[in-house]
Amino acid sequence: MPSDTLTIVDNRTGREYSLPIVDGAIRATDLNKISAAEGDGGLLSYDPAYLNTSSCRSAITYIDGDVGILRYRGYPIEQVAEQASFLETAYLLLEGELPDAAQLETWEEDIRFHTYVHTNVTKFLEGFRYDAHPMGMLLGAVGALSTFYPDAKDISDPENRYLQRVRLIAKIPTIAAFAFRHSRGLPYIFPRNDLSYIGNFVNMTFEIGGRHEPNPVLQRALEILLILHADHEQNCSTSAVRSVGSSHVDPFSAVSAGIAALYGPLHGGANEAVLKMLDEIGDVKNVPSYIEGVKSGKGRLMGFGHRVYKSYDPRAKLIKTVADEVFEQTGLNPKLEIALELERIALEDDYFVSRRLYPNVDFYSGLIYQAMGYPTDYFTVLFALGRLPGWIAQWEEMLNDKEQKISRPRQTYVGHGERDYVPMSGR
Ligand code: ACO
Repeated sequence: MPSDTLTIVDNRTGREYSLPIVDGAIRATDLNKISAAEGDGGLLSYDPAYLNTSSCRSAITYIDGDVGILRYRGYPIEQVAEQASFLETAYLLLEGELPDAAQLETWEEDIRFHTYVHTNVTKFLEGFRYDAHPMGMLLGAVGALSTFYPDAKDISDPENRYLQRVRLIAKIPTIAAFAFRHSRGLPYIFPRNDLSYIGNFVNMTFEIGGRHEPNPVLQRALEILLILHADHEQNCSTSAVRSVGSSHVDPFSAVSAGIAALYGPLHGGANEAVLKMLDEIGDVKNVPSYIEGVKSGKGRLMGFGHRVYKSYDPRAKLIKTVADEVFEQTGLNPKLEIALELERIALEDDYFVSRRLYPNVDFYSGLIYQAMGYPTDYFTVLFALGRLPGWIAQWEEMLNDKEQKISRPRQTYVGHGERDYVPMSGR
């Protein structure tokens, strides 16, 4: 018997099965062979929320949550965040290798060429209510882009897919900036292609009357935050992009599904929730009682805990350094003091220690975004800008993976057996 196999004895029948183990996994479809009775369909693995199911083979991002490791295409996140630009990181995720100087120049030029959106996009954005959540605007507008680029439906052509991903990475910051200005009643600022990717985005959000004084420290801090968010393997929004994309819909629609998933408070909405929580706590002296409340089941400590990191999130460590640089520029935020105290107490408290709950990437990112001048409801939009290259890289990988098919989980039916319809008079 080869050693890289798993032997299973089905005690219902006494039969023995040997399943191959490849890369630390058995194939769930191999369980199909294990059947107790003719026509029972074979054994399923039941895994709500995919706690222990590998849905794909991926070469993009490696995470070891137990020891806090994150790598993009093999490169440690610490090195990428410190040394790469956001577009360089996007290239790395999408193409698999770091670009050389000529490749990076072409990539940046291609993106720059596509930053404008059709004027009609501005018209339907204007139709949103004055207080529309910018993430809802982004979600709708990115889905709508599919109607502007019907050629995006041809997902079988790699050159066409390249064009669509350039469009996505080039245009989403423009739409995101329009959404930012919408709620302020400010006119939309069009892209300036003499600026860098980040510089242009910051300018489109903050320019007033033709003026905006760029702060290079804050711009680099924003760039680092976007890099830290650029991919995180099979998280909720990426799985949504893959799952929706598996129907072979165009990438604008698939990415809008990712934006929808990211909108939720348990995913991208967490840093917004962190600031609300810090507001609610209000003062450092209230931190101990707040923690006691969390421990007794009154809500969760937002920005704490992670499905895969069971040690300190490496992105949170890097973000703390960025926070120091940003607050040096903008002055201290009183909420930072509350956050630091929350972290200090939680890291010593047995409730959090025993459950291996540590600050995640969202614990400090909201404070930084706020110091930069972004309102809380905009944080998730910034997260979406960062995660975009990861979504597209994962979508591309899914399409090139011969083993992938339309995504379609199974279920364990626990409802009624057959019963007769009861007419209204009999209910
Ligand atoms: N505060 C207090 N208790 C918590 C927290 C928290 N933030 N997170 C988990 N727990 C507790 C749970 O109550 C549970 O306790 P129990 O075993 O006594 O029932 C235990 O820890 C395990 O929690 P699960 O919900 O099973 O963990 P899961 O992996 O499903 O959840 C999640 C991960 C959603 C991130 C969770 O930790 C959470 O809700 N955190 C707060 C929201 C947040 O910060 N989300 C951002 C995630 S990072 C990102 O999306 C970029």
